[in-house]
Amino acid sequence: MGVNYGVVADNLPDTSSVVRLLKDNGITMVVVMMPNEKVADAARDPSIAGDWVWNQVAVYLPATQINGVAVGNEVFDMRPDLTWVLVQAMKNVHAALKNLGLADSVKVTTPIAFSAVDVSFPPSDGRFRPDIAWSVMKPMLDFLDQTGSSLSMNFYPFFAFNDPANQINRDYAVGNPNNPGVQDPMTGLMYSSLLDAQRDATYYAMAKLGFSGSSKNSLGLPRGVPVKQSVPESGWPSRGQVKKGGRLGTRVGSDGGAATVANAQAYINNLINRVLSGNTGTPLHPDADMDVYIFALFNENKKGSGPDDIEQNFGLFYPNMTKVYEFDFHGGGASWCVANAAVGDQRLQAALDFACGNGADCSAIQPGATCFEPNTKLAHASFAVNSYYQNKGRAPGTCDFDGAAFVTFQEPDEICDPNASWCVANAAVGDQRLQTALDWACGHGADCGPIQPGAKCFDPNTKVAHASYAFNSYYQRNRRAPGTCDFAGTASVVFQAPKIGNCVLPWKSRRQETTPISDGSYAAL
Ligand SMILES: *[C@@H]1O[C@H](CO)[C@@H](O)[C@H](O)[C@H]1NC(C)=O
Ligand SMILES: *[C@@H]1O[C@H](CO)[C@@H](O)[C@H](O)[C@H]1NC(C)=O
Repeated sequence: MGVNYGVVADNLPDTSSVVRLLKDNGITMVVVMMPNEKVADAARDPSIAGDWVWNQVAVYLPATQINGVAVGNEVFDMRPDLTWVLVQAMKNVHAALKNLGLADSVKVTTPIAFSAVDVSFPPSDGRFRPDIAWSVMKPMLDFLDQTGSSLSMNFYPFFAFNDPANQINRDYAVGNPNNPGVQDPMTGLMYSSLLDAQRDATYYAMAKLGFSGSSKNSLGLPRGVPVKQSVPESGWPSRGQVKKGGRLGTRVGSDGGAATVANAQAYINNLINRVLSGNTGTPLHPDADMDVYIFALFNENKKGSGPDDIEQNFGLFYPNMTKVYEFDFHGGGASWCVANAAVGDQRLQAALDFACGNGADCSAIQPGATCFEPNTKLAHASFAVNSYYQNKGRAPGTCDFDGAAFVTFQEPDEICDPNASWCVANAAVGDQRLQTALDWACGHGADCGPIQPGAKCFDPNTKVAHASYAFNSYYQRNRRAPGTCDFAGTASVVFQAPKIGNCVLPWKSRRQETTPISDGSYAAL
């Protein structure tokens, strides 16, 4: 969860005040973007891409954690002349990162306007615009797949809702619970949010180019998503009219129209709550993750055609740093402290030593204890700094460690839970009973995508390994409730992380067991 910090305005606060504002409000991520004006040069000349990477990314490491960069923004709409050079620019930026040894930690993507999806309803009809589908989107998806990045789509359900011709239910548009929902007549899938319908339309469009996240495995279950989607922009204006293009009429009516504070507040808070609660799946891909950057931080007075243009009214804050409406990025108040990999092992060791010597409970990361594995500096330091931070009551300043750690408001994967347990299959019962139990688990909510051929936990290709993966997934998803690790006597609970080849069995309900593709989020302050 992050924001877009746009600066097309002449009345915004200075940047250090903005950083404080972000931190005070629990906003930990902003997008790093190469502007459209640079894209043609970066595509033409690798050394220009290299200079940009050096000046805008490398020099800020490791003090700033940068997970990804966006090359251009909505190029197909805003700068159609760059359409044909966009992928080359992305490749040159990636190559420059690779030269600096940064390509694994900093992913390259480009935000695409949803108008690139030509047909979006019903979602199963989703397809990319024919002029760019095979010529641009296919090579881009190949690139994103090969580099472990994600497809970045900007979703604005507001625009569909605002068009009076569409007659869209308000609760469905803003993502309120308990709305009548919309069914896809082809698949029977039920959508209770317009955003999810747009996300699935995009997954179907990807599938039509061979990125078939929608195909079924041999058990009839959807396979993992081959290229993840992230949402570098989503927002809702709090007032104004749609001035640009003039194609869309503006919804007016007894409900006060589309661009209202009430609608913006409902949409943004529903979005924040979904991300922070981990409830990010879609009907087609119940396990899909969703990184979202809210557009935008401020109302920007130099955009569009005047104060009554919606373009000036997407902000979470007025320029005087007052909230336009109430929202909360803190997710109910919980927060965690995690170590910053970019500072290197030496500084991680210093943070670890300090935390363990000053009140953190470090017993679980000693040799032989539950959280000794994974035995890395990063994992041990994260455990220690978080223990310190929690024991200090999450007080301000207790998660700094000279820049070696940062606060996050989403439960992080990298902090081991000393009370964890896992469910594993018992080889002695024989393959036949294991297969029966495996089929049952996969058909009752276990995530069996990672044990399909080619997926990260296919090897070792044995019945006991596959059954362990499936049983454990079922067990974690049921929050390790008593009785959820039995499978007709073929399974048992263990309290040490089991090692099965290179496959790591997750110990949380979902975040660790999604796709092998890295999470593709952008930059954290
Ligand atoms: C901030 O600006 C908004 C919009 O102009 C205004 O309504 C609000 O009163 C201002 N708040 C403060 C504290 O000045
Ligand atoms: C682990 O369980 C113990 C005993 O139930 C509890 O006191 C402790 O807080 C738990 N630790 C964590 C990190 O949940």
